[in-house]
Amino acid sequence: MSLPDASSTASDPASIAASSSASSSAELPWQRTARAAGLLGADGVARPTIFAEMSALAAERDALNLGQGFPDEDGPAEVLEAARQAISDGVNQYPPGRGIPVLRQAISDHQKRFRGLDWDADREVLVTAGATEALSASLLAFVDRGDDVVVIEPFYDSYAALVGLAGGRLVPVPARAPDFLPDPDELRAAVTDRTAVILINTPHNPTGTILPDATLQLIVELAEKHDAVIVSDEVYEHLVFERRHRSIGEFPGARGRAITVSSAAKTFSVTGWKIGWITAAPELVDAVLAVKQFLTYVGGAPFQPAVAVGLGLPEAYFRGEAEKLRARRDELTAALESVGFSVNRPGGSYFLVADGAPIGLHDGVVTARRLVDEVGVVGIPISAFTVPEHRADFASLLRFTFAKSAATVSAASRQLESFRP
Ligand SMILES: Cc1ncc(COP(=O)(O)O)c(C=O)c1O
Repeated sequence: MSLPDASSTASDPASIAASSSASSSAELPWQRTARAAGLLGADGVARPTIFAEMSALAAERDALNLGQGFPDEDGPAEVLEAARQAISDGVNQYPPGRGIPVLRQAISDHQKRFRGLDWDADREVLVTAGATEALSASLLAFVDRGDDVVVIEPFYDSYAALVGLAGGRLVPVPARAPDFLPDPDELRAAVTDRTAVILINTPHNPTGTILPDATLQLIVELAEKHDAVIVSDEVYEHLVFERRHRSIGEFPGARGRAITVSSAAKTFSVTGWKIGWITAAPELVDAVLAVKQFLTYVGGAPFQPAVAVGLGLPEAYFRGEAEKLRARRDELTAALESVGFSVNRPGGSYFLVADGAPIGLHDGVVTARRLVDEVGVVGIPISAFTVPEHRADFASLLRFTFAKSAATVSAASRQLESFRP
């Protein structure tokens, strides 16, 4: 949707950031992808992610893994049972390309119930292989070589990789500690006529921040002004602690240019099922489908009716999950604060950010290794979620997940309290 803008100059902060993370055109797509994710070594070999590295370390040292964001408890029994039943009932072959009708209708009903939005189940809903495929198909559909993609930094690690694969240029807008909100003027400067996609995430991984209504409205206005598509990753939409989630689709002007992405993974603790979806205007859904059908074609046949059951669960389920997580957030926060970390107390998601700077711990990578060695708890340095050029700005920060069971979060909290910086 975006037009090249010859007036954009190298003195514009957004284009400096973009060009500094642009890749060489001599690279193959896999190399662009690995480089964009900060994983291409000087020897030309792609390294494992920090998540893989820290998870391996956790297993080796028998440490509690608050690194990778997945639950260690099963989701709702009726959802799990519906999947078992579907397998027994023979729901084991290719489902329709857009997803089974009952799931598309459940997604539409859920958007109506929780967000007050009307999406046509046949034309405005598309089921994908997790939010990951929804994001990759959306970016591959709308980002051409050299196009800008504006993201809020730090960002979920797959964003940079996907922009690299598409051949786009990442334009990171910093969301700085302690509130991790982007500055409206920096957002305005970053979005130009070169911007193909503004890629946002609320509630946010890794910081847990919820974008305020004014920021969401500004993003819609900027997208309209510069004819950009908005891709809004809302996979943590039900994990909110202080106020209700607002979807980008609720904001005037978003219809026709916003693609909302969500997933069963976080809401129903089924990260291995890989059932995601988008809701968007028909022409956007058709564009994403044109790519998606040649990525996975379809997926998760017996899980689709099960997720439909989940989306229809009473409100008490969704509230109850958020309440459980809020208690775990508070326990982990208290433990980290007791040894001197400053903690951001996130409004959503199942991640928090701890800053070691107040106790003289300025390098998050070193702190993460010390925490594994000295108290047996794994966290992830926030620098894993930034472009390499900006790592220093986020160096003292660590992400911890409280997606784990109450017992695991309590045990990790006790171990963290014994840390002597
Ligand atoms: C912000 C964000 N988006 C997308 C995903 C991936 O979702 P899915 O497992 O449905 O592909 C994750 C998983 O951690 C995430 O944190």
